[in-house]
Amino acid sequence: MRTKIAGIGHYVPEQVVTNQDLEKLMDTTDDWITERTGIKERRFGSRQKETTTTMGAEAASRAIEDAGISKEEVDFIIFATLSPDYFFPGCGVLVQRELGISNTEVGALDIRNQCSGFVYGLSVADQFVRSGTYKNVLLIGAEMHSMGLDFSTRGRDVSVIFGDGAGAVVLQPTEDENSGILTSHLHSDGRHAEELAFISPGCHGGYHGQPEQYGFSDDPYDTIFITQKMLDEAMIFPNMNGRHVFKFAVQKFPEVIMEALKTAGYQPSDIDLLIPHQANLRISQFVQKVLKLRDDQVYNNIQKYGNTTAASIPLALSEARDKGLVKSGDLICLAAFGSGFTWGASLLKW
Ligand code: UT7
Repeated sequence: MRTKIAGIGHYVPEQVVTNQDLEKLMDTTDDWITERTGIKERRFGSRQKETTTTMGAEAASRAIEDAGISKEEVDFIIFATLSPDYFFPGCGVLVQRELGISNTEVGALDIRNQCSGFVYGLSVADQFVRSGTYKNVLLIGAEMHSMGLDFSTRGRDVSVIFGDGAGAVVLQPTEDENSGILTSHLHSDGRHAEELAFISPGCHGGYHGQPEQYGFSDDPYDTIFITQKMLDEAMIFPNMNGRHVFKFAVQKFPEVIMEALKTAGYQPSDIDLLIPHQANLRISQFVQKVLKLRDDQVYNNIQKYGNTTAASIPLALSEARDKGLVKSGDLICLAAFGSGFTWGASLLKW
């Protein structure tokens, strides 16, 4: 028994934000963003009517319809995001409510693995399906980054990269030997946790540097989740050591892809389509070069959507499928690297 992707869908908000739009907010240029990242534009959700959950629900509805099932047939929900609507509860239960799934037999799990959240979620879903526990697992990756970025020049190295969007798949069991997930490989290295992180507000107290650096006091009854100092000094944004992340990404992507290929008895030339997490076009191009892949073997859409973290792989896979670039029997490789660091790859037959 294997796990196959039985349905797929994606959603992006209508509002297009170009590099030129960002030039008006901060000291940046279209040339810099294009040359360093490949990004030309991204989508930002409407703050009045969209959230990570609503975008995820829209992508999920499309995946459910594509799978030809009813929403009441979904028996498990997995939601991967780093930009949840609430600190808790997670988007898993919120999307259940948003979709109107009243069946309380359904479990809802939230995955917090940032850029590799979808690949981690796929592996978790695969275990549930192959063990016979669930028959229709809904896996969603969605992000509403635009709500939490620093759009001043101070935050430019991070804020020009990220965009909003969602992608979802329905996973089902199959006995067809020529389709489904062949192998998944997951990795982590927590030594780099703060190199790409959103640590405040949070309950870290004195764990990161000096407590006074964040305005934490010693008073056990003092609320320290968010301090005035954090607000005054704009510590409430994600931060990234871009060069450090880049260096590891270009090493770990090819490594984990080769690990998956080797396990399943394939070589890079056998890949019909590689969908790398859309972190930076330069990273994807580097991976393509190392693996000696042709242009038609790699799918990128970061130019249009920016980096949508947990949404980027299902969004790219769904778009590629809609364009007819994914055909029955194709060998598809999904690979991700990001905050944690965590990284992973999945190899599947479409
Ligand atoms: O998906 C999660 C995983 N994330 C990643 O994989 C991201 C990996 N890293 C990257 O993609 C790249 O490191 C970045 C795109 C973030 C940055 O590109 P870079 O080529 O590594 O640039 P840099 O950080 O070395 O900065 C070069 C210069 C700096 O100025 P100085 O110090 O040379 O004067 C920055 O201050 O570019 C400056 N800079 C900018 N200039 C214009 C940084 N951001 C901007 C900006 N516009 N938006």
